[in-house]
Amino acid sequence: MSHAPQPVISATGLFTPAERISNQELVASFNAYVARYNFENADAIAAGDLAELTESSVEFIEKASGIASRYVVDKAGILDPAHMAPRLAERSNDELSILAEIGVAAAKDALARAGRDASDVDAVLCAASNMQRAYPAMAVEIQDALGIDGFGFDMNVACSSATFGIQTAADYIRAGHAKSVLVVNPEICSGHLNWRDRDSHFIFGDVATAILIEDKAIAPAGHWDILGTKLKTQFSNNIRNNFGFLNRGHGGIDQSGPKSDKLFVQEGRKVFKEVVPWVANLIVEQMEVLGLAGADMRRLWLHQANTNMNRLIAHRVLGHEASETESPTVLDTYGNTSSAGSIIAFHLHHDDMAAGDTGLICSFGAGYSAGTVFVRKT
Ligand code: COA
Repeated sequence: MSHAPQPVISATGLFTPAERISNQELVASFNAYVARYNFENADAIAAGDLAELTESSVEFIEKASGIASRYVVDKAGILDPAHMAPRLAERSNDELSILAEIGVAAAKDALARAGRDASDVDAVLCAASNMQRAYPAMAVEIQDALGIDGFGFDMNVACSSATFGIQTAADYIRAGHAKSVLVVNPEICSGHLNWRDRDSHFIFGDVATAILIEDKAIAPAGHWDILGTKLKTQFSNNIRNNFGFLNRGHGGIDQSGPKSDKLFVQEGRKVFKEVVPWVANLIVEQMEVLGLAGADMRRLWLHQANTNMNRLIAHRVLGHEASETESPTVLDTYGNTSSAGSIIAFHLHHDDMAAGDTGLICSFGAGYSAGTVFVRKT
């Protein structure tokens, strides 16, 4: 007798870059840039044509965001006050792209943990905030590097890309279009962060995660049932990046100053105020739909953008101040890694959970976009 396919999470994978930048190193480099900028533009600043730049501070960064350090693919270029961006050697078309390379590393980790061979996978979704190029799709390059016979495509829902990818993969399983789907989230956020912008220069880090979504019938022991998923979007300009293929038509791309709309820009205060209640409501509504109360939630793996946002959201969901066990953070070590954040938290903080324990993977960010994935350990 054949059963209706049921999507589950078989395993996750993580790739962490070797290099790391502490807040102290970051602020020293930023302040050297500020001194240089103010010196070079002294006349224009004195004439009132340019605003003087202000120094950054380690204390502010830790208090406002909870971030203490971040991993990056190229530390030297980012910390060079004359450059303030990663330096990455351009690769030939015959070499694996760097974004695909870190995605493949995370995918291999997930496959190994599931005891799965790449040849058993049917589809690859590359779900991330930024793709390295317009085409061919990163997902197809990752598929080729892993030797997967099937299909792949890219999807971008900014910080919510991973949860949107999970629901999309789950729907393919339910529809019978695939039995095993890899959702890969390579995030080289250092490439789109404006390291010259005092308001945001501390936010992002680089990483890659992968999630293997499979039909329960073939999933390994100890997999996670997906109890329900819910996605939501609502247009907002408060997190925006205008980098795109029409920039040339608009007169070019300028990413050189302390403010550029062709890099990540946000109204952090507004994001904080609007997104916290929006996401908390989405989670609570979904818990009602699934018949779950705060006391049923063993763990929340929330999007890792800001510890204060997570504290407020977790409080609303659980009905009390969350402990580190109930709502683990990876922000202190990884920074905000866009779509990968909640997946890193899940990946690093689930070993102690027992069969029957329920948790929530939740993302939120630009769009606005938010996604919830309620899971139960088997
Ligand atoms: N170093 C020192 N001081 C800084 C600073 C820096 N790097 N950046 C800003 N400040 C100062 C500001 O000038 C301001 O000073 P003022 O009060 O004298 O005017 C003060 O700190 C507060 O600035 P503000 O930007 O309002 O800080 P905040 O408390 O809102 O924290 C964020 C900033 C970005 C950490 C916070 O808004 C946030 O996390 N928002 C959520 C959005 C998010 O994380 N999005 C990521 C994508 S999902």
